Amino acid sequence: MARVSNNMSTETKSAAPKNITSYLQEHRVFKPSKEFSAQAHVKSFAHYKKLWNESVKHPERFWGRTAKQELVWFKPFGKVLQWREPFAKWFVGGKLNVSANCLDRWLGTPTANKAALIWEGEPATDGKPGEERVLTYRQLHREVCRFANVLKRNGIRKGDRVIIYLPMVPEAAIAMLACTRIGAVHSVIFGGFSAQSVADRIQDSGAKMVITADGGYRRGAVVPLKKNVDDALLIKDANGHSLTKTIEKVVVLRRCGNEVHIAEGRDVWWHRELEYVDANCPAEKMDSEANLFILYTSGSTGKPKGILHTTAGYLLGAKLTSKYVFDLRDDDVYWCTADVGWVTGHSYIVYGPLANGATALMYEGAPNWPEPDRFWRIIEKYGVTILYTAPTAIRAFMKWGDQWPKKHNLASLRLLGTVGEPINPEAWMWYHRVIGGGRCPIVDTWWQTETGSIMITPLPGATPTKPGTATLPFFGIHPEVVDDQGNAVPKGSGGKLVVRQPWPSMLRGLWGDPQRYKEVYWSEVKGSYFTGDGCRQDEDGYFWIVGRIDDVLNVAGHRIGTSEVESALVSHPSVAEAAVVGRPDELKGQALVCFVTLKTGQHATPELKVELRNHVGKEIGPVAKPDDVRFAEMLPKTRSGKIMRRLLKQIASGVEIKGDTTTLEDFSVLAKLASDE
Ligand code: WTA
Repeated sequence: MARVSNNMSTETKSAAPKNITSYLQEHRVFKPSKEFSAQAHVKSFAHYKKLWNESVKHPERFWGRTAKQELVWFKPFGKVLQWREPFAKWFVGGKLNVSANCLDRWLGTPTANKAALIWEGEPATDGKPGEERVLTYRQLHREVCRFANVLKRNGIRKGDRVIIYLPMVPEAAIAMLACTRIGAVHSVIFGGFSAQSVADRIQDSGAKMVITADGGYRRGAVVPLKKNVDDALLIKDANGHSLTKTIEKVVVLRRCGNEVHIAEGRDVWWHRELEYVDANCPAEKMDSEANLFILYTSGSTGKPKGILHTTAGYLLGAKLTSKYVFDLRDDDVYWCTADVGWVTGHSYIVYGPLANGATALMYEGAPNWPEPDRFWRIIEKYGVTILYTAPTAIRAFMKWGDQWPKKHNLASLRLLGTVGEPINPEAWMWYHRVIGGGRCPIVDTWWQTETGSIMITPLPGATPTKPGTATLPFFGIHPEVVDDQGNAVPKGSGGKLVVRQPWPSMLRGLWGDPQRYKEVYWSEVKGSYFTGDGCRQDEDGYFWIVGRIDDVLNVAGHRIGTSEVESALVSHPSVAEAAVVGRPDELKGQALVCFVTLKTGQHATPELKVELRNHVGKEIGPVAKPDDVRFAEMLPKTRSGKIMRRLLKQIASGVEIKGDTTTLEDFSVLAKLASDE
């Protein structure tokens, strides 16, 4: 069992790790201030340790108690956990509803008239400020009920899958909550994804409906969301069969006023549909284990994985972590800058904050539009107290310069958070100093789409932090760093990060593919959940994530499977073979470098490079556009024909080629690749 050290040292004294190279030594420790601790939910490190020890020693007792305390049930649950590895059922027999836990429970309390969502639109191109909207809990409840009735009117029933492909507008949250209200399963697709990605996700989920908008604003331009959906609905597979034949209805929100095609009988306008419904829609009594949502994420094979989350466990995880990690108080204005298309937006814009009765801010646009002070302007305007963002954004802010945050009064901030990738200590220090004014604790939160909620994190009033580490496990979570045999490695050594016990908000499977679920997460290390991340623990037991160990890259905080990009490249008629690797990038964490061999008769031209970049953008979405395309005559392969990515990675990063090359089939390939810059 991982143990939290009793005598927290003020300095990390750990020896150099053996298995991980290029690890930086970090000695700074930041203790929570007395003032912060005094008003926090967990006020001391000793208290955290006591609660954590208890929670992992008797996990069912801990989770059973908190599920009763934190959630509102229509029918109480019986057994806390039924575990038949790798399939978990939590809070067996209980009935509840997610939207009722986020909304109805606040009616009749003072929270009913409190702002649930504060929304700031993107500023217009003519320099006019963005629109703003505030929805109180009562208003949000009403909008959710009305839209839930629209879903029903258009044939959506319990268990049906609904695709949500919207910009960052309050309707995205309304649509999600409306689905949960009637027991429909939503799958939100990030607005930056392409028609092909939408079609693939419709096909995999068997969705009946798409909820979209005419368009979404991005840096003054209109992203044609409805047009993308129209295109998606025309895509056919190699045999000429439609990928999207399950779709019966498309609901279209008017956002940008751009012209769109409306297919009679299939497409309906959001605002017109509202005319036919009232605001009376009782919440469906859902089983604890009813499917709640599917969210697609990159895996190490070409096909995105449909991560499946269920009702009670997910909600409990999102609610409990929001409360303790962000130390939510009634007067907070909390801002998570993620997009609702990612899991962070699900858990920490919508479900976690609302289940706590908090005020969540939502911003439609980009951080540097129209100027790089956008975030700081918003923080000053609304008096934001908690900011949760990503290291890639922090590095961009650093690059744009201190003058932008300095223009604004950021004194309202009391807590900062980061998520998505390891944060380099330099960025951590900048965040602490320039944004936090040296007074705000930073919670570096490690988790995944699969884990549903934050797993490794400081508690801001309790845990001393060190720049670059997510520190220690949340309550009820038991992570460990292990070797290939699954044995815990000594402190200071690198290994694979696993989680030893099931937890309520863990994924319940991959949509339609239980076998792949077993293989990906539960076969690598016997009896444990395998995260795919490399990690080491320091002397204080702090977890230092060193990045992915599978073929998944982390580009600007987004997981991108190298094989997905390879498949997209190979689908271009000129390409014979492709290998995609990551190269360290100052801003994005990792940049995508593609090595491409062409079919005979095709020519390596600069135009083709541009075309291939755009092709990947079209196939997957702009997030996956390669930063660098390199043509090669051949790729380095082993005798058995496996591409040696390790070598490509070194070439892409411009470092000397090291390690074993004896299995390489043809040495001349390396020299050619290295010279072909
Ligand atoms: C990485 C995002 C270091 C990690 C919530 C993980 C992090 C993957 C951190 C999940 C962090 C996330 N420190 N690495 N604080 N947070 N990661 O599914 O590699 O988009 O496995 O979930 O991001 O990415 P996902």
